[in-house]
Amino acid sequence: MPIQASASAPADSAHYGPQLGDAEFDFIRHVVGENAGIVLGPNKRQLVQGRLARRLRELGLPSYEAYCEYLRDAGPEELVGLINAITTNVTSFFRENHHFEALASYMLPEAMKRNAASRRIRIWSAGCSTGEEPHCIGMVAGEVLPSSPRYDFKILATDIDSDVVAAATSGIYPVDRMSSVSPERLKRFFQKGSGANEGAAVAKQELKSMITFRTLNLLHTWPMKGPFDVIFCRNVMIYFDQPTREKLVNRFSEMLIPGGYLCIGHSESIHAGSAPFKLVGKTIYRRNGGANG
Ligand SMILES: C[S@@+](CC[C@H](N)C(=O)[O-])C[C@H]1O[C@@H](n2cnc3c(N)ncnc32)[C@H](O)[C@@H]1O
Repeated sequence: MPIQASASAPADSAHYGPQLGDAEFDFIRHVVGENAGIVLGPNKRQLVQGRLARRLRELGLPSYEAYCEYLRDAGPEELVGLINAITTNVTSFFRENHHFEALASYMLPEAMKRNAASRRIRIWSAGCSTGEEPHCIGMVAGEVLPSSPRYDFKILATDIDSDVVAAATSGIYPVDRMSSVSPERLKRFFQKGSGANEGAAVAKQELKSMITFRTLNLLHTWPMKGPFDVIFCRNVMIYFDQPTREKLVNRFSEMLIPGGYLCIGHSESIHAGSAPFKLVGKTIYRRNGGANG
């Protein structure tokens, strides 16, 4: 039996609660694709329904039909709620650790050499989710960069999802999510939370002060000038279609200093010849130019 385009649940539905019909699913897919670049294939109906169920409850709406109407009326205001609900925010500390090893062994040392006069080093974590990635970048930089004389070192960490950006900004993590952070790093960069944060690890000021968190849609205009020495955009482009990925990779190249690096996720790749990058390591691309050619 085909799934109804109406909001009412098919009688034999295996799922309780409002059902996402064809017309509403297509509308939501279109809005998400146009506004966030996230491609939701026809097989993502259950995922969309599951992720939006809470949003419907929060808004006190009885059906997806009512939600789509609300979305049309509320416009940009609800777009934030929709996108926050739809995004996949899976992340972890030292995920794909080879990038952090490369950061320590050659990306930061090269940046120190290149920027010896200005002492300015900039890193962008694009699609930072709840902040594990930029916090790891900060920990590595804290270990590699000399404390005196200091580098003007900053990490920009951005994400489209305002909820995860708020969580990331707090720098507070349940200890059970920190098993991949060594005891030495935990001790140096985090302190034990107290009161409401009992049982959590809280980033110390040394680490927090390196990172600026901002909400930013990668499809929109970027307010920063750059240039960046390293850009991390890992496990983000996987949700976009090919033309969007290619455009984004070209924009990243313009934001990188010649010789700077772009790190992408394990299942992502950049097509040879589509951008001024050379593959120099596992999912590590170097922007052409600079001292090493
Ligand atoms: C799977 S997480 C990856 C987190 C981290 N980079 C990592 O690899 O662990 C993907 C993130 O990309 C963000 N994202 C999706 N579309 C985006 C867009 N158009 N602009 C900015 N961020 C986006 C999501 O909100 C989500 O937090």
